[in-house]
Amino acid sequence: MKKILITGGAGFIGSHVVRLFVNKYPDYEIYNLDKLTYAGNLENLTDVDSMPNYHFIKGDIEDQEFVQKLFEEYQFDGVIHLAAESHVDRSITDPMSFIHTNVLGTVHLLNAAKNIWQGSFEGKKFYQISTDEVYGALGDTGSFTETTPYNPHSPYSAAKASADHFVRAYHDTYGLPTVISNCSNNYGPNQFPEKLIPLFIHNIKNNKPLPVYGKGINVRDWLYVEDHAEAIDLIFHKAQPGSTYNIGGNNEWRNIDLIKKLIEIMDRKLGRPEGASLSLITYVADRAGHDLRYAIDPTKIKNELGWSPKVKFDEGFEKTVDWYLSHEEWLEHVTSGAYVEYYRKMYEGR
Ligand code: NAD
Ligand code: DAU
Repeated sequence: MKKILITGGAGFIGSHVVRLFVNKYPDYEIYNLDKLTYAGNLENLTDVDSMPNYHFIKGDIEDQEFVQKLFEEYQFDGVIHLAAESHVDRSITDPMSFIHTNVLGTVHLLNAAKNIWQGSFEGKKFYQISTDEVYGALGDTGSFTETTPYNPHSPYSAAKASADHFVRAYHDTYGLPTVISNCSNNYGPNQFPEKLIPLFIHNIKNNKPLPVYGKGINVRDWLYVEDHAEAIDLIFHKAQPGSTYNIGGNNEWRNIDLIKKLIEIMDRKLGRPEGASLSLITYVADRAGHDLRYAIDPTKIKNELGWSPKVKFDEGFEKTVDWYLSHEEWLEHVTSGAYVEYYRKMYEGR
């Protein structure tokens, strides 16, 4: 494997994957293809952008001709596809952009890979990074396995599910060597502050209300982003074509409990009296179609590839808070301009 295309490498998870690959595999040429939407930020990669095996390409996976030419020019050996519209709330107000990026964009990449690899799939791999949300919602018990039927509820998860179906179809129809992994909620540095944890860190710091959807009883399984990047590395190198792996943290939290834990850490770090920020909790209208609970059964990846999360939640959560508190400039850059308008639209009148 020599030339690896990573799409969405300027985003949250993608930047951690790019960093891992650039540092760990000096013999690989790593190409980061990113449109730099509001969620893509090259400041996430300042520590690797001068490395000789790292290359950035600004481009849009929605542009089929551009994608085809790119593959012809660089003759990639492998693709790790993370580029996506990734925020459920945005998908509720603007489903079409999710169809364009997550579905059409994925199919453009599949076509280009199929075209340049045709006849010789040996040593090639197309790796689709997907989400546990494609499986839908769980009740109080049970967990998603790799054979759980897809049952997406949001436009975001429906678009990801659709893309996954195309990936499997290209494997089954054309023999394209594809792999899919479905991961639970990631947390850690560099996540755009529209998602729960960085948004609430930002709001607690600035004494702004914490908009808890519904009753705060929805459950998510949280995984430190570097653990996800390591799982991606393993799957990319070891998984058999046509296979799927679920990735999770074995770390379920009700939103309201997670938020109270975050408040406890933040009050301590900001030198506020214990519990001072609890008053910022504000229950707001629930997210439409809000999935009650996600949980991952990680047996397959543990048994077959020997992966399990390394970072304990207490440690990862503290590290995450420290990172946001010590990266004020990063936060200022991503929360200026368009972010202000987004925040007003999303939360005013809720
Ligand atoms: P993100 O929103 O932080 O980053 C997405 C990146 O894709 C950005 O850099 C953006 O500029 C780029 N992008 C968007 N549209 C593009 C286009 N048309 N062409 C090229 N680049 C484009 O997302 P994330 O949270 O890092 O998620 C990355 C992937 O992992 C997504 O596919 C998502 O579905 C999946 N995933 C995320 C999580 C999570 O908890 N965040 C969990 C499981 C799976
Ligand atoms: O499960 C994997 C998925 O996790 C990924 O595929 C998505 O890309 C990623 O965004 C994430 O989706 P969620 O919808 O679970 O994440 P989010 O951070 O938006 O919300 C987490 C929970 O917190 C969810 O139950 C909704 C709730 N929430 C979120 C926000 C932004 C609130 O109560 N208030 C908020 O303001």
